[in-house]
Amino acid sequence: MLRRLIVLCGAWMGFTTVGLSQEGSGVSGPDAILARQASLDLSSITFRSMVDALKAGREAKSQAYPAAALAKWAAALPRMFPPGTGQDETTVSTQALLVIWRDRAGFDRAAANYADATARLTALAAANDTPGFLRQLEEVDQACGSCHARYKKGAQGPPKK
Ligand code: HEC
Repeated sequence: MLRRLIVLCGAWMGFTTVGLSQEGSGVSGPDAILARQASLDLSSITFRSMVDALKAGREAKSQAYPAAALAKWAAALPRMFPPGTGQDETTVSTQALLVIWRDRAGFDRAAANYADATARLTALAAANDTPGFLRQLEEVDQACGSCHARYKKGAQGPPKK
């Protein structure tokens, strides 16, 4: 079941990235909000599945696919926040604070930091460095949390178990 979720997650993320790369191709602001929220929920599921796998004694190399899926999404994330999709700017429910667009450089840095953290996670999985992978999961978690602390309204970090 978990494996099927991860596969679906990766396939769906690929679809999203393609859709938004065609600028002005008809992906509306509300579409972007729904797509990014689903990707962020899937990120949470993916992240937790890696933690659980390591806790269950799996090696880092078994997590190469979910790590790469997070890295792929991390690279697409900034483009999923087009102008006009912040809280109170649209009828769609969103926790994206307007400070994202007031401090776009800071938001892009937070996203780049997240992309770096997940790229490193992917490299550690490829090297089958299990202790390093475990430490890097913490770094990734911090990259999620530090972006949320400034740019997302409401509860910080992924939902707790
Ligand atoms: C660069 C900033 C940034 C990073 C990095 C980031 N998030 Fe978020 N996240 C946001 C913002 C902004 C929202 C609010 C989006 C919205 O409601 O439109 C959000 C929303 C969410 C949500 C709620 C989605 C929903 O259905 O409303 C979850 C869950 C989540 N993030 C998990 C994560 C996890 C897990 C990570 C790391 C593995 C992560 N995020 C990394 C900025 C970020």
